[in-house]
Amino acid sequence: MSLLEVEDLRVTFTTEDGPVLAVKRMSFALESGEILALVGESGCGKSVTAMSIPRLLPTSGVEIEGAVRLGGRDLTALAERDLEALRGKEISVVFQEPMTSLNPAYTVGRQIVEVLRRHERLNSRKALDRAVELLELVGIPDARRRCDSYPHQLSGGMRQRVMIAIGVACNPKVLIADEPTTALDVTIQAGVLEVIANLRDTLGTAVVLITHDLGVVAKVADRVVVMYAGRSVEEAPVDSLFAAPQHPYTMGLIDALPSSALLRGTRRLEEIPGMVPPPTSDPDECEFAARCPRASARCTSARPALKVSEAEHRVACYHPGRKEVGRVS
Ligand SMILES: Nc1ncnc2c1ncn2[C@@H]1O[C@H](COP(=O)(O)OP(=O)(O)O)[C@@H](O)[C@H]1O
Ligand SMILES: [Mg+2]
Repeated sequence: MSLLEVEDLRVTFTTEDGPVLAVKRMSFALESGEILALVGESGCGKSVTAMSIPRLLPTSGVEIEGAVRLGGRDLTALAERDLEALRGKEISVVFQEPMTSLNPAYTVGRQIVEVLRRHERLNSRKALDRAVELLELVGIPDARRRCDSYPHQLSGGMRQRVMIAIGVACNPKVLIADEPTTALDVTIQAGVLEVIANLRDTLGTAVVLITHDLGVVAKVADRVVVMYAGRSVEEAPVDSLFAAPQHPYTMGLIDALPSSALLRGTRRLEEIPGMVPPPTSDPDECEFAARCPRASARCTSARPALKVSEAEHRVACYHPGRKEVGRVS
């Protein structure tokens, strides 16, 4: 049994313009102490998948199907009260924009203390000491003094570190980080990623790291799930994904990395032509076919299933295959 199991997740929103099939069918598992990256272009359903895990989606206008199990317990069967007790304590979520998640009116120390006191029986003094420890853990210098700072007095990178500290305050088993470095300057992204990677070593936290940036994946992930149009199209350990990507979409994402352009000896980045299809239907075909250089008639006649291609590597494609990365064209 894996720590977290998402099985056949489907999320459909009802909107004035008709149904939005944000997640069509997603299955993946997260092991204890693992950093799993969920990667894909904007709009492919990463955030909706993330929010579905601790049931943070709105309760009306949305239909959620499938199972989400934490330590074997089905979270879809839990009452809202039990979910509230679970959020922050067993599963925490860190979002892209720390400014919208922090309360501007309270010091960061107070915000961490509040989380601690909600879930743990700590007196205020102990809670404050723990808050200082947590700020140290996420690499905030002069942590005791920083407890008295208000969010606006901190840089974006420091605010995101505070959000991570709040996220892990009660030592959750799973941290879901949704584009945690996307809003930050490139120069400070690495430090925040390092903090996330360190959580596994210091606290044993398993992480679902959501990003559209394969460069981020390469730095910290153990395993990767590549999403396209609400589904998983490839799944592999990180080394295997970069060394031998199987899905043409994954290859496109890798070719779009600045480091791949360097390897090709050019400064021009290769973009994947076209766009992610709008999530209004669920055709029985490979939805990447319209953008795929390898597409054949078969690809639009039936959807390829996610199948094991080699050890721990799975791909949903009729024409998968190794392609030398960095080949000079
Ligand atoms: N509350 C909502 N109501 C209607 N559609 C939504 C809602 N939230 C997300 N979507 C749609 O679901 C799709 C997937 O969104 P999202 O998971 O945010 O993508 P990603 O995080 O991969 O960029 C998008 O087309 C988005 O517009
Ligand atoms: Mg998103």
